[in-house]
This record gives sequence, C-alpha cells and structure tokens, in this order.
Amino acid sequence: MNAVERLHISVFASGRGSNFQALLQAIEEKKIPNADIVLVLSNNSDAGALEVARAHNIPAVHLSQKQFATEAEFNRKLLQTLEDHHANFIALAGYMKRIDPALIQRYRNRMINIHPALLPAFGGKGMYGLHVHEAVIASGARITGATVHIVDEQYDHGPIVLQSAVGVEDRDTPETLASRVLEIEHQLYPEAVRLFAEGKINVNGSRVYIRNGS
Ligand code: GRF
Repeated sequence: MNAVERLHISVFASGRGSNFQALLQAIEEKKIPNADIVLVLSNNSDAGALEVARAHNIPAVHLSQKQFATEAEFNRKLLQTLEDHHANFIALAGYMKRIDPALIQRYRNRMINIHPALLPAFGGKGMYGLHVHEAVIASGARITGATVHIVDEQYDHGPIVLQSAVGVEDRDTPETLASRVLEIEHQLYPEAVRLFAEGKINVNGSRVYIRNGS
C-alpha cells in the first residue's frame, strides 16, 4: 500500500549531468521506488544531461532566457513546461541559473539541490565547480563533503536533508577533491530522492526531520 504521491521529477541541469545519471540509474535499478524522471530541463543546449535524457527517451527541453524577450516570459514558459509534464518535484543537478522566486514558492519543499561541500560552509554566490574545492583547500579544512538541501530564496541555503563527509588530504588538488566528493554525491542524491519518494521527509522551519522505518 502506498499513500504517498508518486514523484514526477524534473531534473534541471546545465552541464555533464552525472548526478542526473546517478538518479536515473537508481530509479532504473528500482533503488528509488515510487518515482519517475518526467523531464530534463537545461539552459544550455550542449548539456550532456540533455543527451543522456534523449538516449533514455526522457523528454529533454532546452530553455534559455535568450529565447525570450523578457525574464518573465522565460519563467512563464518554464512553469508551463513543468506543468505540461506534470512535474511535482524538482531536482537541481548542476543548474547554473538563478531560480525565479515564484517557482521556488510553487515548489516549496519539493525542490532540492546538491552542493559539493558541507553547507553552510563553502556555499553561496561564486561557490560552484572547482571554486568550492579551491576554497576548501585554501581554508585548511580537514573535512568537506556533499550536501543535499531544499531550495529556498537564498543560494545554497535551505533546510539540509542529507550530508556526507570526505576527508581532505595534504596531497589533494581541487580536481582530486572534486572527484572524491562527486563519488559521494552520486550516493547521496539518490538516497535523498528515495526519502522523498517514500514520504519520509518532513520540513519544519529550517529543519528537516527524517522518519525511520516503513
Ligand atoms: C555537482 O558537483 C553538484 O554538486 C553541483 O554541480 C555539479 C554538477 O555535476 N551542484 P554533474 O553535472 O551532476 O556531473
């Protein structure tokens, strides 16, 4: 018996899409029950994520603000596209464009992001890609990791769903650290989506509560 609404996930990705692939694989392997990826959306026509989606017969849509006269028109089209595909959940996976506050409001507590550090450290404006790992190494921190959080109106800020830690080694470069963090991202993101799909996530203010058991 399953009283939890099935997740119709739209993935937003601007780049290679390895986190999208990790989600897709977990769904295909039935590690995430009660969920489908109904749409992959990208602001970048060259995004690897769009290619992967097409290869799996998942609707892949390129929507860029440049195609529209105003930001409002772009955002209207984005929302319409989500509705056309009955998306009730959004997973950001390396999406490099600011999300319209109206969309955040519409998908409140139903939009998540993955960040390659242990938030609230090393997040916010400018903290993307290798910049994050450069900043971690420069700080002398001995631990970093990955965070899945709910999206709110501030960058890398909303309630934290899951985190996993990675040690920083003396010999690490931003690239080696990024690749170890990415490995755990690929575990953590599917795990977080599974918790939503099973209806185990409750959000209260800035905190997420995870229900145990079935
Ligand atoms: C990941 O490191 C993720 O944490 C960040 O953007 C990167 C996306 O990588 N938000 P990929 O496109 O999923 O491979």
